[in-house]
Amino acid sequence: MIKAVRGMRDLLPPETALWNFVESAARDVFRAYNFREIRTPIIEETQLFARSVGEATDIVSKEMYTFEDRGRAQSDKGQSLTLRPENTAGVVRAYIEHKLWERGLQKLFYIGPQFRRERPQKGRYRQFFQIGAEVIGPPASGSESPARDAEVLEMLATLLDRLGIDNWTLQLNSVGCPADRARYNDVLKKALEPVVGQMCEDCQRRAVTNPLRVFDCKVPEDQPIIEKLPRISDYLDEPCRKHFEQVQGILQAVGVSFVLNDRLVRGLDYYTRTAFEFTHGALGAQNAILGGGRYDGLSESLGGPSAPGIGFAIGEDRLVLALTESAEALSRPPDVYIAPLGEGMNREAARLARELRRHDVVVELGDESFRLKRSLELASRMNARFALIIGENEIKSDVFALKNLATGEQVAVPRGELAGRIQTK
Ligand code: HAM
Repeated sequence: MIKAVRGMRDLLPPETALWNFVESAARDVFRAYNFREIRTPIIEETQLFARSVGEATDIVSKEMYTFEDRGRAQSDKGQSLTLRPENTAGVVRAYIEHKLWERGLQKLFYIGPQFRRERPQKGRYRQFFQIGAEVIGPPASGSESPARDAEVLEMLATLLDRLGIDNWTLQLNSVGCPADRARYNDVLKKALEPVVGQMCEDCQRRAVTNPLRVFDCKVPEDQPIIEKLPRISDYLDEPCRKHFEQVQGILQAVGVSFVLNDRLVRGLDYYTRTAFEFTHGALGAQNAILGGGRYDGLSESLGGPSAPGIGFAIGEDRLVLALTESAEALSRPPDVYIAPLGEGMNREAARLARELRRHDVVVELGDESFRLKRSLELASRMNARFALIIGENEIKSDVFALKNLATGEQVAVPRGELAGRIQTK
């Protein structure tokens, strides 16, 4: 038997109703904040992620699905391609490729699958879905303003509230500008030198390639050492400190609560200044429902013009785990089950179903070979509100037997009144 590949999973009904609920709430909220949708390819050049997410990150160094795309011709040298592990890089590539800066500040959102070859566990999959957004534009469009950071964070709080998810914590940090980072990196390197020998293999590599990445370490024995390392908050320059204070000031003014966490550096290299995660108590080890931050130098590092930006991505799989709604409650059962009785009635049933569906009635269509008892059982099992019986007499009189499956009450309804009758609660 061929099964789904490890870490990839099927989403089946009724659970898919939860996904639709989340996505439609997200689209509504994005509309209210004037974001518009962007769809970028799932496959991109490998270099795009190496240069944006960063060679020394876990994502690029060990989690990407990368393959050589080559034809049969000898002359075809092939190209290294990668299934996107995240969507910010693709959005910034598209921003540069299509000169979106000519259109001023861009507020873009996306919903789609991402791929990382991580060890699968609850809340962590190799194909997972992100709902994300990016605000990016030339500096003159206001893209650097702390008002943009605060707006994005407030929008996220609004979306979580609308989904009925409370119990979240916004963890907030500033990772500073590239100059702050460079200073901090030096300090960190020095602080690591005497202790790195006692740390895990990954940390020993990180201490050399990219010391900030030691904060990605999950090894319990390393945590007391990491706890004592210098803090980025002590190395922010005046403009970064001010920017961060303004973000916090707006959040306080709009009543979005947060906790400061100066150990939050995020697992991707492109971040500058504001960095954040929303965590949720019910999720266990994989407790980050979403993450994001500012990436003011990303466009330049991909060959584009200056285009400060801020964005986030929600792990939709995790968001769905945090919902309190049940899939059944969100699924809409059929309004009516049509039971054709006897030969030639499939045709009549199809005509009637077509009429009712045009009035937005949700119709499940039975088959003339089923007996009435079987049809009524099927209708009850799928929680249809009504059963509509179609036999020769009904067709002749154009009046149909409509049975309310909750009360058992059956009434005769003329064809023209059926849709209205079925729709009244
Ligand atoms: P990220 O923190 O790598 O950031 O991912 C964002 C969210 O995606 C995580 O908080 C988590 O909920 C979800 N996620 C990540 N990996 C998995 C997985 N293997 N299985 C299930 N869910 C997962 C980014 O991707 C950035 N592009 C966010 C961003 C946008 N920053 C600025 N703009």
